[in-house]
Amino acid sequence: MKAGTAILEAFYQSAGQFVPLTELKRLLKQSNGNVTAEIADLEKLGYTIESHPHFGYRLLGTPDRLTADDIKAHFESYEASLKTRTIGSEILVFDETASTNDVVEHLAKSGAPEGLVVFAESQTKGRGRRGRAWASPRGKGLWFSVLLRPALPPAAASRITVAASVAVARAIRQTCRVDARIKWPNDVILDGRKVAGILTELRAEADEILLAILGIGIDVNCAAEDFPPEVAKIATSLQIETGHAQDRVALAARILGALDESYRAALEDFETVADEWAQLCSTLGRQIVVTMAQRRIEGFAHALDGDGALLVRKDDGQIERVLGGDLAVEK
Ligand code: BTN
Repeated sequence: MKAGTAILEAFYQSAGQFVPLTELKRLLKQSNGNVTAEIADLEKLGYTIESHPHFGYRLLGTPDRLTADDIKAHFESYEASLKTRTIGSEILVFDETASTNDVVEHLAKSGAPEGLVVFAESQTKGRGRRGRAWASPRGKGLWFSVLLRPALPPAAASRITVAASVAVARAIRQTCRVDARIKWPNDVILDGRKVAGILTELRAEADEILLAILGIGIDVNCAAEDFPPEVAKIATSLQIETGHAQDRVALAARILGALDESYRAALEDFETVADEWAQLCSTLGRQIVVTMAQRRIEGFAHALDGDGALLVRKDDGQIERVLGGDLAVEK
């Protein structure tokens, strides 16, 4: 682990308390780092650190900037007991990309490992489902993609989106203390307004998924005027809903931790993920309409099946499996 990451991890673990100099020296022994120099480097990056001749050092403030080191430091401090993980095996942060999904696809072709995560502070061509554009203003959200190589048939790919929506909703609930809910298939909503979306793109053969690119967009600190007019009425951000700016790095780390867990469960024991999904879902048990490119299905949102498809009971009693589309709840 890099020296800066080790120091940040100790700060996050101490939750605002002083960390003694002897402890920091011990942590840096392996990397041969020098505490004073490392602290100075962190200060240059925008961290506010207080030093005390007897108590040591403590962290007073962090910059609003995504870095792999900082995400990893949080990541480790949250779940120190879990050392082997898939998601976040490698983390890259770009200042600007066209779409992080495209960056991941490109890196996948040159053999990038499963679990690679690519963040961008801004995207010039962020995209959403069904060919829609996804606004990704600089520094206001979490725009990132994860490379997965799930041992699943293409028909079960929806499990991945289900696992991701559970992870995002859970992490937002824990970090921001708000009632985040899931709107099938891939939106996370707060009080009826969308705060996050998921775009799962696949490269597959008839019977196996070669790779899945999980793209996640979260409107963290967007102001109302950051939303394009066509989504302004249906979108919101965590800052708007909580009344204050949220720590993007802490939230990113929580999401990756939650995703690591829910992705593994989606492969090995999908029922547990489906159960959590059902508890968080705002659409189950409601009369709904799903609009797809060629057709429209009306009925009662009954359950998820083992592949992650929504089972809709139509008025004639027939059950229909629905894998995608835009959903509206009927009054
Ligand atoms: C949707 O709700 O329609 C899905 C939105 C997904 C947006 C994210 S932002 C990071 C990744 N890169 C993209 O171009 N899209 C996804």
